[in-house]
Formats: sequence, C-alpha cells, structure tokens
Amino acid sequence: MPIDLYCVMGNPVTHSRSPWIHARFAELTGQTLRYEKRLIALDAFAVSARAFAAEGGRGCNITVPFKFDAAKLADRISARAALAGAANVLSFGDGAILGDNTDGAGLVSDLQRNAGFDLCGRHLLLIGAGGAAAGVLGPLLRERPASITVANRTLARASDLVARHASLALQHEVDLLASSLAELSGQFELVINATSSSLSDSGVPVAGSTLKSGALAYDMMYGAPAQGFLTWAAEHGASARDGLGMLVGQAAETFLIWRGVRPPELQVLVELRSVMQER
Ligand code: ATR
Repeated sequence: MPIDLYCVMGNPVTHSRSPWIHARFAELTGQTLRYEKRLIALDAFAVSARAFAAEGGRGCNITVPFKFDAAKLADRISARAALAGAANVLSFGDGAILGDNTDGAGLVSDLQRNAGFDLCGRHLLLIGAGGAAAGVLGPLLRERPASITVANRTLARASDLVARHASLALQHEVDLLASSLAELSGQFELVINATSSSLSDSGVPVAGSTLKSGALAYDMMYGAPAQGFLTWAAEHGASARDGLGMLVGQAAETFLIWRGVRPPELQVLVELRSVMQER
C-alpha cells in the first residue's frame, strides 16, 4: 500500500515547521505518513492543489498567501472556514475537496490548555482585521468572553469583520466592537496581535495603556518577528506569549481531521521549542 502523503503549500514555505510537527505527531501516535513542503508559484495555487490530489495526496495545509484561494477552491467548506473566508486545511477524498480552518481552534487550545488562560467572561483586544484575525474571531467568540474589540489601522476592515460575526456574537452574548487604532480606548485582559506590522519593522500598533494589570499579550507570530511585541509586553508588565503553541495547536486539529487521532500537542510544543532554541 502506498504511504499516505500530505504537504504544506505556501510561498514562502522554506521555514515551515509543519513537516517536523506532523512527523512527530505520526511517530507519537503510531501512524504512518509522509508530509512534505511545497513551494507554490503565486499564480498556481489551484492547479498545484489539484495536481497534488491527482498524485495521491490525502490533504494539505495552506499557508501565506493562499488561505483565501484555498477556501474558494474547496467543493465543501466547514462553517468555521466559511465564517473566516479562509482555509488552512484541505482534505482530498471521494473526488471532492473539503476545506476547513483550524487556526482559531489552535489559538484557543494554546490559550486555554497550554497557557491556562480561561477566555470566558474576559475582555479581549484583537489587533488586526486581515486573514489572521478573520481565522480566529469565530472560535474566540464561541468561548464566551465578555467582550472582543477588533482594532485595525483601516477601520472599514474591522467593521466588516465585526459585521460578519455579529450574529455569532449575539448568540454567545459577547459584546463585539470595531475600532480604529487611533481611537482605541480601554484596558484589556488579553491583547492579541494579529497584524503583520512586525514584518515591516513598524513597531507595536497600540499603546501599553491597553494592557490591564496582569494582562496576557499574545503574538500570533513566533521566532524573530514576534520579538518586538513580546519585549513591548514585558516592558509594560504583561505576561507575553508567542504563537508557536497556536502553530502546534492548529496542526493537532488538522491531524485529528486527517487521522482521527488527537496527538499530544503540549509534548510536541515543548520539544519544538527546545529544537528551535538549539539552533
Ligand atoms: P494576514 O493574512 O497576515 O492577516 P493581511 O490580510 O494582509 O495579512 O492583514 C494584515 C493585517 O496587519 C491588517 O490588519 C493590516 O492593517 P490594514 O487592514 O490597515 O492594512 C495590519 N497591518 C499591517 N501592517 C501594519 C502596520 N504597520 N501597523 C498597523 N497594522 C498593520
């Protein structure tokens, strides 16, 4: 029998940790599979995904910049991916392409299980309204925080994202608000950076006064790009956490979809951190 084949598709994709994570999940759960990296030309996502399925691929993870294309390519899509408008997982079976989004579940799992931060009844600030923020807003709302403020440089994008999630917020009794960065006020128990501002070296886009005493500041990035935000958080007396646990968390949710087994997420996160520190 041929070995089950999976991959991560992106551009760039060289530094992706997903092959390492999935190989370790497979080892620890006694599964046999192969997981590769595929660099995809910017105009070739759909054709490459279909070719991978035709070649016998069972599924793929999707990273920057193809998550929106992946949602459009899928024949069927989960409710959470539809709400996000983006997919980070495709599964190929019975001739159909199924799309899902496990980013939000990965974040929630890292916050609640690994960091011990209970979201219920808390006041949250989500900075950014692009693809990264869209992927996590629905799953955050489902945890019933008291409020979520979505603050973005471009107010219209925050307002759109909030409008799309208004009925889910109502259903879960969450006060969901949109703000521009310039007019942002208030203090929050959890501040999540979902912007790409660190990639342009433009600093943290909100003031330290947004952090309530004892707050947790979370950057969805990890490694060097998260460093500025983590330092800023520490300078303002907040606890700081990078997005490595979210990465492992979304991979664990993906593995569960593909293989029907939940891998030991925390163990793999601890191992990955130590592998990264050795380098
Ligand atoms: P991603 O998929 O990573 O979310 P994106 O959809 O391009 O990428 O969104 C990037 C996010 O980072 C947006 O919220 C963007 O703000 P705008 O909507 O106003 O563009 C935000 N962002 C990028 N650079 C920023 C900066 N220097 N300061 C503040 N926000 C920034």
